Amino acid sequence: MQVQLLCSLVAAASLTLADSSNAAPATLQNVNYGAFTQTATYSIANQLGFFTAYGLNVTYLQVPNSTYGYAQLLNGGYDIITGTIDNAVNLRFNSKNNLTVIGQLDQGPELSIAAIPNITDPTQLQGLSLMVDSPVSGYAYILRKVLSLYGLYLEKGDYTFQTVGSTNIRYADLVAGHLPNGTPVYATILTYPFTSEAMAVVPTTQRPNIIARVTDFIQPFSSSAFTIREAALGNSTERAIIRCFMAAMYAANQYLASESQKSQKCSIGAIAAQLNVSTAVATSAYNSAIDPLTGETSNPGGNFTVNRQGLLNVIDVRSQFGGFASVPAHFNYAQAIVPGAGKLIDYTVTDEAIAATNSYKPKGNCS
Ligand SMILES: *[C@@H]1O[C@H](CO)[C@@H](O)[C@H](O)[C@H]1NC(C)=O
Ligand SMILES: *[C@@H]1O[C@H](CO)[C@@H](O)[C@H](O)[C@H]1NC(C)=O
Ligand SMILES: *[C@@H]1O[C@H](CO)[C@@H](O)[C@H](O)[C@H]1NC(C)=O
Ligand SMILES: *[C@@H]1O[C@H](CO)[C@@H](O)[C@H](O)[C@H]1NC(C)=O
Ligand SMILES: *[C@@H]1O[C@H](CO)[C@@H](O)[C@H](O)[C@H]1NC(C)=O
Ligand SMILES: *[C@@H]1O[C@H](CO)[C@@H](O)[C@H](O)[C@H]1NC(C)=O
Ligand SMILES: *[C@@H]1O[C@H](CO)[C@@H](O)[C@H](O)[C@H]1NC(C)=O
Repeated sequence: MQVQLLCSLVAAASLTLADSSNAAPATLQNVNYGAFTQTATYSIANQLGFFTAYGLNVTYLQVPNSTYGYAQLLNGGYDIITGTIDNAVNLRFNSKNNLTVIGQLDQGPELSIAAIPNITDPTQLQGLSLMVDSPVSGYAYILRKVLSLYGLYLEKGDYTFQTVGSTNIRYADLVAGHLPNGTPVYATILTYPFTSEAMAVVPTTQRPNIIARVTDFIQPFSSSAFTIREAALGNSTERAIIRCFMAAMYAANQYLASESQKSQKCSIGAIAAQLNVSTAVATSAYNSAIDPLTGETSNPGGNFTVNRQGLLNVIDVRSQFGGFASVPAHFNYAQAIVPGAGKLIDYTVTDEAIAATNSYKPKGNCS
């Protein structure tokens, strides 16, 4: 048996079975995990013991903005990142960066345009400046798409962009009503879990309004994707870390999907603990996470497969606004999204991860 495929407390990647039965002290492998939001799957893996059961010490590194986050991935600061797949499409097709998507986590749960309380309709955004992470990546293009359907165009000067940073920062600024330097803010794209968190904002005079849901305009939509450096696939140490991380996330994701009474209760508890929110907010977030169209259990096959039509919609929206300016003429997108070695998507390490899951189940009843 190939020990390198095991992921457990004593299975440091380089040990053989004989070594591990000679019981060196239990070692955890360190993983630097970059993420924009603390997803339900992550919350369950972290709070309910999956990471430890797979031999991992996962350090959650909050991505401040996509430019920085993907640079960290490429320079080795992060072992793996979850971010919207549009970033990977942009960096791979426009900039020829060697990053690889190894799975899809979700299809944009709670993805919506949220505004300050006195703005109730997208047309009221005319003439205003809207907060984005980066004007050329992530969710900027879907914001442009939805607003274009209300007759508002960035390129015609109907509104402008404020480059602010990732969703947690934009959410905080939206609730405050201004940037830290006092500049007023009006609206932005929010994702899981911030639309749920918004309902807990008191006073209501600060509570963001959801003025459009992206699912009403773009469906399906491939969003958070597990993304790595392509070179990590060819390095046995790095590959083993990614395999175990994916095995733990897969097991946690299956737990989220199981919807047994116990798993429901424990999942909500894990979300509440991870996000430090009330049970009511965590229950709303849980319901988003298991939404069959957008949630973390919506991927075809339940095994982190990318929704092909969802990815084509990402590409389509980006192309509508000139987002492939550095891609050669006659580029074959249909061929470029077929999974395979050296391609945008490569599932091989995820397939190994699914085969490497163990029998761990959270103990107790989460009361
Ligand atoms: C986990 O990783 C963190 C950050 O690298 C480190 O400070 C901590 O000691 C590690 N814990 C274990 C149990 O290995
Ligand atoms: C992105 O984050 C990095 C690291 O915190 C920061 O130095 C940089 O200014 C940020 N960029 C933008 C556009 O906010
Ligand atoms: C990606 O890898 C290819 C093939 O090894 C190489 O030619 C290219 O320069 C790399 N791209 C970047 C941005 O480093
Ligand atoms: C909402 O309030 C902001 C500032 O508080 C103001 O600039 C904006 O015009 C108002 N919008 C509407 C639609 O009332
Ligand atoms: C493989 O990755 C490990 C951990 O990042 C690194 O120390 C090692 O130098 C890499 N090996 C090669 C051949 O690049
Ligand atoms: C959790 O939230 C409560 C109240 O909302 C706050 O007082 C507390 O400091 C938070 N805890 C952490 C660890 O952030
Ligand atoms: C994952 O699910 C897809 C869609 O059902 C299926 O085609 C694929 O073979 C599955 N992959 C694994 C590794 O089970």
